[in-house]
Amino acid sequence: MAIEYIYSAEGITANQLHGFFVGWTNPPSPETHLELLKNSDEVVLAVDTESGNVIGFITAITDNVLAAYIPLLEVLPDYQNQQIGKTLVEKMLARLRDFYMVDLLCDADLQLFYEKFDIRRGTGMFFRNYDRQAGRLKEG
Ligand SMILES: CC(C)(COP(=O)(O)OP(=O)(O)OC[C@H]1O[C@@H](n2cnc3c(N)ncnc32)[C@H](O)[C@@H]1OP(=O)(O)O)[C@@H](O)C(=O)NCCC(=O)NCCS
Repeated sequence: MAIEYIYSAEGITANQLHGFFVGWTNPPSPETHLELLKNSDEVVLAVDTESGNVIGFITAITDNVLAAYIPLLEVLPDYQNQQIGKTLVEKMLARLRDFYMVDLLCDADLQLFYEKFDIRRGTGMFFRNYDRQAGRLKEG
């Protein structure tokens, strides 16, 4: 299996984005997934070169000065435990190395994973609007 890592969603179609958001009650559609990838300041996509499908992704949004936030990271279940998630994080952190602060939130069982990258445990706060888990309502 050959995996290619790319830094843009340009040229990617929604058909290449199936199977993500595992366990989400009301997941974004592949079309909405594509939109959020295109709207992110930085993305790294892992593409299976045989199928052409995206099998892992990580996103970051930034203020382009001090701060970057990593909202999403996922590797499809069939591709997990093959160092793909680690590679995505490493490649994203390399893209963000100029920023003062790079923040993310994760469940406690993922803290050991992120600590491999010198990301430290902290205290966070968050709000979730579960009615909008599939994405914002479009205006007009
Ligand atoms: C978390 C996730 C991205 C990891 O991707 P992956 O490709 O399976 O992980 P890797 O194979 O790159 O693992 C790299 C290392 O982290 C370890 N690791 C992986 N998942 C871990 C976890 N949940 N807790 C602790 N360590 C973990 C691996 O054992 C491996 O260790 P090694 O380098 O000593 O061999 C993947 O499990 C996933 O998509 N989960 C569902 C979505 C999710 O939880 N995303 C994160 C939201 S904050």
